[in-house]
Amino acid sequence: MKAIGVTREGEGVERLDVARPEPAEGEALVRTLRVGVDGTDHEVLAGSHGGYPEDSDHMILGHEAVGVVEDGNGSGLEAGQVVVPTVRRKPNGETNEYFRRGEPDMAPDGEYVERGIVGDHGFMAEYFTSPADTLVPIPEELAEYGMLVEPISIAEKANDHAFSTRAPFEWRPESACVLGNGTLGLLTLWMLGREFDRTYCVGRRDRPDPTVDVIDELGATYVDSRETSVEDIPDAHEAVDYVFEATGYAPHAVQTVHALAPNGVGALLGIPGPWEFEIDGGALHKEIVLHNKCLIGTVNSHVKHFEAAVDTLAAMPDWLLDDLVTTVATPENVPAAFEDDDDQIKGVVEFDTL
Ligand code: NAP
Ligand code: BGC
Ligand code: ZN
Repeated sequence: MKAIGVTREGEGVERLDVARPEPAEGEALVRTLRVGVDGTDHEVLAGSHGGYPEDSDHMILGHEAVGVVEDGNGSGLEAGQVVVPTVRRKPNGETNEYFRRGEPDMAPDGEYVERGIVGDHGFMAEYFTSPADTLVPIPEELAEYGMLVEPISIAEKANDHAFSTRAPFEWRPESACVLGNGTLGLLTLWMLGREFDRTYCVGRRDRPDPTVDVIDELGATYVDSRETSVEDIPDAHEAVDYVFEATGYAPHAVQTVHALAPNGVGALLGIPGPWEFEIDGGALHKEIVLHNKCLIGTVNSHVKHFEAAVDTLAAMPDWLLDDLVTTVATPENVPAAFEDDDDQIKGVVEFDTL
């Protein structure tokens, strides 16, 4: 069957011809519809994140997928059901406390593999298999944009964890700022627009630009980080109650603290490689303590977040989904989905339709 991946010897994305997988007991066979490409895929391609499955000369890419159950294989899923797979799996099939309690997203390094990212094949192939409890059913009418459930689930988890840190007191947030105008940033900007009176989104692009158009359309304020550094947002606009970092630009981790209003919370999601820079550690420490600020890191998501993401996706307006998905490529024309120019927001590889 056709698959898209990387090889240890090769350079960049390649078309692969691999055997169609056989579902093991408890697994379903899924016919892939669409698979999205995100910033992490580019980090995997650049070699700054993730790694090959042991004993394999290649890795099939893709962790944002939607497909149709081809064979339920006695797993409880019915053929024809539209499903979205979660990303983390047990390392070498051996379970641990995080998987046992349904929270693989909280497992530390080494206690999980990630499909298409860390040590396991992804979903960018005509078929894939997966345990039934890692396949989240979605309504058929959401199939076209079902590959967005995974990135939305990432934001669901981050927001849940961040807001939970403010639960012990009466937090009355009004403003939020998303750092990053990639798909994760823009999906989250829409979500935060439902909860906050004022939203901001930080990028580094000149107008006209398709991501800035989306920011405008969402009624958010565009902040160009080349003109206004993140730590200067309080002077240029206002100190914000929530920062959602989705740039992978390491200095933003520190600048976030200075962009926050007293009692605010920042969630860091970017995954940079090594990056050295100078900071005033004392000022940072003092700022966090004296203003009750909180900075969290958050990665991955589990089934509960996927289920919340299905409802969120259902509520998203059609224009936003249409604007975000800028390329739908066939497996034959796959480089188009991985192009990373300013016209691209989300590239998608389509293997089949319902
Ligand atoms: P993406 O499409 O690459 O988006 C990143 C965006 O940040 C780009 O639009 C980029 O702008 C912008 N940016 C980078 N540096 C900037 C700066 N200094 N000032 C202003 N804007 C800047 O990636 P994505 O898929 O949205 O994901 C965002 C990050 O989150 C990535 O690092 C990804 O690995 C990570 N991520 C983490 C999780 C998790 O579970 N923690 C999940 C998904 C993604 P330009 O395009 O103009 O360069
Ligand atoms: C994926 C997550 C994954 C993270 C770290 C993200 O792009 O969406 O599922 O945990 O990368 O590898
Ligand atoms: Zn991702």
